Amino acid sequence: MNGVLLPRDFVRESLELHLFFGRIMKEHSIFIEAGFVGMDASYAQQADQFKCLFTDVLKEAILLANGVVSGEAFYSGEWITDKTLRAEQITQELSGITIETVMTTEVNGLTPDAGVNQAQLEAQVTVLNQKAIGLTNALIQFKSNILDGMLQCKLFTFNFPLLLIHIRREAIFYMQHLERLQRHMVIDFVTEAIEEEKFWNRQMAEHAQFISHLLDPTESDLIVKANNFAGQFDRLEHIAQGEGQGIKTLGQLTQETITATRALRDFKVAGIEGLLTCKIKSIIIPLLADHVLREANHYLRILSRSKRELQIY
Ligand SMILES: [Fe+2]
Ligand SMILES: [Fe+2]
Repeated sequence: MNGVLLPRDFVRESLELHLFFGRIMKEHSIFIEAGFVGMDASYAQQADQFKCLFTDVLKEAILLANGVVSGEAFYSGEWITDKTLRAEQITQELSGITIETVMTTEVNGLTPDAGVNQAQLEAQVTVLNQKAIGLTNALIQFKSNILDGMLQCKLFTFNFPLLLIHIRREAIFYMQHLERLQRHMVIDFVTEAIEEEKFWNRQMAEHAQFISHLLDPTESDLIVKANNFAGQFDRLEHIAQGEGQGIKTLGQLTQETITATRALRDFKVAGIEGLLTCKIKSIIIPLLADHVLREANHYLRILSRSKRELQIY
């Protein structure tokens, strides 16, 4: 049954969403910028503007979030990991793209669950959400333009067309969550669990595909592992879509997805460590490796919430 979101939950959920997705949008803009060749400088410049605009969203969210956000989200590793700062620094050195790292330190310094009167922030958060909706809409359009140019062979970038589709899908998901929050709408946890699993199982499958395709061809063991994860999440996504076989209930699907996502998360942790210490040969930009790790951490938090609400033991 659908219900109405309490002001304090509206504030907390909105800020937690920005701390995750605001940073994700900022980083998509960096990946887009880094993928262009010299002759498409104007596209790279536009991407840089989006990076700055989402940096501002993130800054505003951090300012409002102290004492408001939950420990569950704070400790999940979806906003930053212990590798984020290093990944940002190395990516900046290698790409020449300026990355403000102060927010990474600030997020680390937030105090969760400090009993701040969240309802007082409702008006400010409503404005921030509206601003993020407008910006995300513009970013979706920008990603679509680049994708169209690539598919018509009028534009070259080192990002795969599927990466553009993937990051556009994440932007659309962010916007849908924001629009639901602006309407103060609560959806029932079963519908929500299915929606999240349909969405993130596809994203996890594609992360594994990107890793497989961006590794040096000599990294055969890692490529085989990545391909196995891609197959596993393809299967889980089909089941979540109601097409697959072998799993009977949402509870079983959620439990199996948790196990698979933990394994993929561990693979991503090993991947970013290997990249930061120059032990893996690839064309993966270090911040992308940390980015997909945070997305797995976010998904694990959502899955544990579903597990709790579905009462799976
Ligand atoms: Fe992403
Ligand atoms: Fe992703």
